[in-house]
Amino acid sequence: MIEVDIKALRDIIATFMKPKRLTHTLGVEEEARALGSIFLPEKLNELSVAGLLHDITKELSVEEHIQLCHEYGITVDFDNIESKLFHAKTGCEFARRKFGCEVVDDEIYYGIYYHTTGREGMTLFESIIYLADYIEKNRTFPDCVKLREYFYNNLEKCDTIEQKKEILRMTMVLSFDMTIKNLIEESRGIDLDTIKARNYFLKNKNCF
Ligand SMILES: [Fe+2]
Repeated sequence: MIEVDIKALRDIIATFMKPKRLTHTLGVEEEARALGSIFLPEKLNELSVAGLLHDITKELSVEEHIQLCHEYGITVDFDNIESKLFHAKTGCEFARRKFGCEVVDDEIYYGIYYHTTGREGMTLFESIIYLADYIEKNRTFPDCVKLREYFYNNLEKCDTIEQKKEILRMTMVLSFDMTIKNLIEESRGIDLDTIKARNYFLKNKNCF
């Protein structure tokens, strides 16, 4: 990745969202760097960029998302995907077109693409962005607080990086369990990628 002026990027993304979402976005960036400093210290700037850009299209209307998908040639099954998930599918492409593929490289692109659903075989980078979005410090929803406490309380007890990675894996399983339970309780659709992600982390002890 080319060198990115992170401070300038923070100022640019502030023009795309309301103050509350900006606070969340800056929280995701901070959390992504915190997780990165444990698990992926060589990618801190890339994690910053993905964290800052992950919600860049979140404030668009459903009609605007559909329009962008047509414009970008993105295939989205609009009848079977929750509208809350549109922004991940449009956000990565919007970000790449705006900032270029040298800034939004494939790792960042897919970090944004899968940050709401997860996927089977998701990478450490994708997992960090996904989890940072869930547990960043401004999140007050009970499940977010529970997941944040679960992760950090267990992390404290770890000595080795292998133990820390195992806590990360178990935290990913718990996050998908909570998401799936909530979706069922709210009678909403569950993306197949989310189910596959949950099973993947449940079964693969050496995923990281
Ligand atoms: Fe987010």
